[in-house]
This record gives sequence, C-alpha cells and structure tokens, in this order.
Amino acid sequence: MIIHHCTRSQQFTRRSISDLFESARSIRERPHPVLSGRILISLFYEPSTRTRLSFESAMCRLGGTCIGTDNAGEFSSVVKGETLEDTIRVCGTYGDILVIRHPEDDAADRAAKVSSIPIINAGSGKGQHPTQALLDLFTIEERFRRIDGITVALVGDLANGRTIRSLAYLLGKYENVTIRFVSPPQLGVSNDILAYLDKHHVRHSRHESLDGVLDHKTDVCYLTRVQKERNGLSGLEAARIASRYRMTPHLAGRMRPDACIMHPLPRNEELPLEIDALPQACYFDQARNGVLIRMALLASMLNA
Ligand code: NCD
Repeated sequence: MIIHHCTRSQQFTRRSISDLFESARSIRERPHPVLSGRILISLFYEPSTRTRLSFESAMCRLGGTCIGTDNAGEFSSVVKGETLEDTIRVCGTYGDILVIRHPEDDAADRAAKVSSIPIINAGSGKGQHPTQALLDLFTIEERFRRIDGITVALVGDLANGRTIRSLAYLLGKYENVTIRFVSPPQLGVSNDILAYLDKHHVRHSRHESLDGVLDHKTDVCYLTRVQKERNGLSGLEAARIASRYRMTPHLAGRMRPDACIMHPLPRNEELPLEIDALPQACYFDQARNGVLIRMALLASMLNA
C-alpha cells in the first residue's frame, strides 16, 4: 500500500483500507519502534485535543519524536505574513512527515502540492478529516466484523461537519450500505456527497427528525456537534438544534444492544453523559482506535 499524502477519503481503495486495518491489528499485537529517528511535525491552525495528541502518541509509540505548534495561526510566521506554502516548504526541511489542521477547505491539498515530505490532513475547514473517518470505519469493522451491508444514521450539522463528509466518502466504497442523513434543512448534507453516493449505488435518505429513523436495523448512529464556529449560529440557536438532534436512552432503546452510538467528540448537548453507560456507546473506543490507526498510517506513509 503506497500512500504518499493523505488529504481526502476518496483516495483510499477498499484494498488500501483493509491493508491499513490489518496493519493496525498487527501493531496492536506487536508494536515495534519502527519510526525511531523520524520526526513528525504538527501544524495546527485550529484547536484539537484528540487528533493532535493521538498523532503524537502514535508517533512516540512507534519510537519517533514530535515537534510542532498549536495555534499555528497565532504563533507561527503567519502573523508576519508568511504564506501557507512557504511554511510547508520550510517544515519539509525540519521533519519527515507533517500533520496539518487548518480552517480552509483546500489547505491540505495546497500543502501537499508544495511539500517535500508526506502531508496528512488532520481536518481542513468544512472539507475533510480522512483519518477520523478511517478510525470511525475501523471501529465499525471491529464491532460488526464487516462493513458491507451496514445501515448508518448520520445526525446533526451535516453541512459543516467534515468528519461525516469523510466518512460518507469511505462508506461509498462498500456494498449494500444504507445511509440515513438526519439534520435540520439548513444544515443538510451537501450535494457533492449525495452525487458521490448515487454514483456508488449507496442507498440514502434524508430526514428532519430522529423520530422513526432509529430501529433494530440501525447498526450505527453517528452524532455530530453543531459547528457554531463555521455555521455562524448563536450559542442559543446551536443548543436548540442540538437538543432536537440529541441521543436519549429512549432512542437508544430502539436500537439493538450491539449497535453503535458514535461521535467524533468533542460533544455538546447532542450526546448527554447518561448515554456513556449504555452498551451501544462507542465513542471512547473511537478515540482509542485513533492512536492505532494513526500508528498504522504513519508507519505505512514512512515505509516502515
Ligand atoms: C472533529 C473535528 O475537528 O472535525 N473533532 C475531531 O477531530 N475528533 C469534530 C468536531 O470538531 O466537531
């Protein structure tokens, strides 16, 4: 499997995904310090907890080291007017692989165009977050031992959430998948995703309410936060929407006990703490799997 840059979900094939998952499972059994002497650079222009720390943990667990800056927009030379392209060119001389999170949709692609070292997109604006989607898919496969034939509800701010965009693109690679998009009309999934799913024969439907969407056929209910920083909604309006697109023990009870409730985190009102004790809660498994998938990805991209 050759992955030069990792910027969007569409670049993966079923084969490269299954190779990556196999490598993640073998790393889980037998971790080796295969990246000793290699340096990961993290360049985060937007806040992050899980993505940044799990990449850095993954690199350290494989014997490598990490350098970087969070709040890159504030602390790096951007404040002096440096372009993203120049920053990337220079970083290429300091490290072996670069992980970038940026508010603009095309930032990772722009970085990949000029970079001398592999680029990983750790979230680009409203665009994509491919490594989150890979760890989401891995979590689903770990639970059900398959991805073909699954039924997934994607819920919340589908217009601005990059994790569901990347996940929908990955799901489109599997057979007999059904996706139910659940959101208020103004935060609905965008047409490029629907066109892609049509092209790949994925059954999909759109719903304005969670009522009647979750049932014993639902394998996954993937909730997302209302992205106030991107959609311009007030805190009050965002909370009002989150309370309508919110998991409850009653709704979870309509799903099978072995189904998954997923969330990329951080959570707001849409995922109350009382859900944590339910058998379907999978979001901390997602976070744990993030380290494993990122270890497999780093090892693969650095040919270790
Ligand atoms: C997500 C992101 O940054 O897109 N977080 C993450 O990486 N786990 C989700 C979000 O911010 O809502």
